[in-house]
Amino acid sequence: MIKKFYITTPIYYVNDKPHLGHAYTTIAADILARYHRFIGDEVFFLTGTDEHGAKVAKSAEKVGKTPKQFCDEISALYTSLWDALNISNNDFIRTTDQRHEIGAKKFIEKLREADAIYEGSYEGLYCTGCEKFLTEKELVDGKCPDHKICPDKISEKNYFFKLDKYAKKVQELIEKDKIKIEPENIRSEVLGLFKQELENFSVSREKVAWGIKVPWDESQVIYVWVDALSNYITALGYGSSNDANFKKYWPTDLHLMGKDIIKFHAIYWPAMLLAAKLAVPKHIFANGYFTVNGQKMSKTIGNVIDPNDLVKKYGSDAARFLIISQFPFGQDGDVKAEKFDEQFNANLANGLGNLVSRVTAMYLKLDLKKCKGKVLENKEVVRLVTNAWKNYEKFMEENKIDQSLKTTFSLVKFANEYISVEKPWELFGKDDEKCALVLCNLIEIIRHIAWMIYPFLPETAENILTQFSMWDEESKLEYAKLKKWKRFDLDLQVKKAQALFPRI
Ligand code: MSP
Repeated sequence: MIKKFYITTPIYYVNDKPHLGHAYTTIAADILARYHRFIGDEVFFLTGTDEHGAKVAKSAEKVGKTPKQFCDEISALYTSLWDALNISNNDFIRTTDQRHEIGAKKFIEKLREADAIYEGSYEGLYCTGCEKFLTEKELVDGKCPDHKICPDKISEKNYFFKLDKYAKKVQELIEKDKIKIEPENIRSEVLGLFKQELENFSVSREKVAWGIKVPWDESQVIYVWVDALSNYITALGYGSSNDANFKKYWPTDLHLMGKDIIKFHAIYWPAMLLAAKLAVPKHIFANGYFTVNGQKMSKTIGNVIDPNDLVKKYGSDAARFLIISQFPFGQDGDVKAEKFDEQFNANLANGLGNLVSRVTAMYLKLDLKKCKGKVLENKEVVRLVTNAWKNYEKFMEENKIDQSLKTTFSLVKFANEYISVEKPWELFGKDDEKCALVLCNLIEIIRHIAWMIYPFLPETAENILTQFSMWDEESKLEYAKLKKWKRFDLDLQVKKAQALFPRI
């Protein structure tokens, strides 16, 4: 039976243009989406932009634009970056889309019908940077620890969500892994939050104009986080007459996000879904946060990396590689921008690129047709590749994407060493049979590498397979067949092609 796989990224705020952090989560989601399509799942991959709220309105005002004008411009920067990075999302939701507004209103109505909402007044501190209320305890020297600004003192009428009515159930679902939260340290952090007092939260704002109006009280707009979270269902058509995708894909198989917003996803969102009598997400995975050269990425420090610059310099696939391979997925890490050239040269130019060009050149130079029909595989190599697939899959299933990539590159390393040890050019004319065996093994290893990197470096995978005249036939094959060791005829059409990754 074909499995469905619904995967999401956070929808990103449009207060500023996209940076490396946004690209990081989106590329990871793309890799997983591509992998799941590859193994035959029916995938729906969603990303988008979060456009309402005080933060975006303020940014628009600063540059003298209307919020909508401003949102259109910044949201377009996201879609063009995703094009440049070859992101294969099935849909792109904007919270200013009419379809979203319809669904978000329906959702909050459902919460009200379920008696999960009450009117109250809020007096407290609000950080526009975080778009959330902060408690005194959370402040450092009176400031928001993340944005280093004093929160606004707010006193207004709000509608509140009765989190206390649903928190226990959410906790139970997490404890029983019905909502699986990973990595483990984040799961413990979330479970720890239930031990403190979880306050009911506000689902509307009175003094914010830029938002979706609360359907029963137009003096209020829906709180930007409630508005934003509901994107995961509105994009599937929830609340509209065309909700086939909602019926097919909900609940989410994987919500991916940075650990900064885990509380909203792991506690608030499931609680609201329970109230609305909708299924809860199956799996929530938080990626770690990275610093750049040891410091938080910030405009003031001037260390913000624009992913477009990486694409321009290294190309789309290499940019994906460099962004995702820096540190283990799920952990915090540091990105050293000055190391990109070195990593590009070592792994892509000298590693993968060199392997493909050496094998191509040898194959074209040596006429191996006469070896046809001989035993053309080495059991040890076959075992190595089969094991690599096992590890690769295991890591992918555990969302350890960097480990899958490492496994693949260990095959690249092996193949390059295999060439140095066997020296096929010396075998030619002396031991043609062995020469053919080595080259065939190498081409077959490259075929496996190409398929393994397919979710990571899709263009490169296609280029390699095209170079060996395999793409047309292979790309129609099923995953189970592709990953099997294969013998092929030695009259393979091999094309000389440009270097995949010219050295920098
Ligand atoms: N709009 C909300 C999300 C609503 S989802 C219903 C939001 N947007 S954001 O633009 O601030 O994006 C935050 C996300 O960007 C993080 O959760 C993470 O996925 C990604 N990252 C931003 N900076 C990052 C790092 N420095 N490191 C890793 N991921 C980072 O929050």
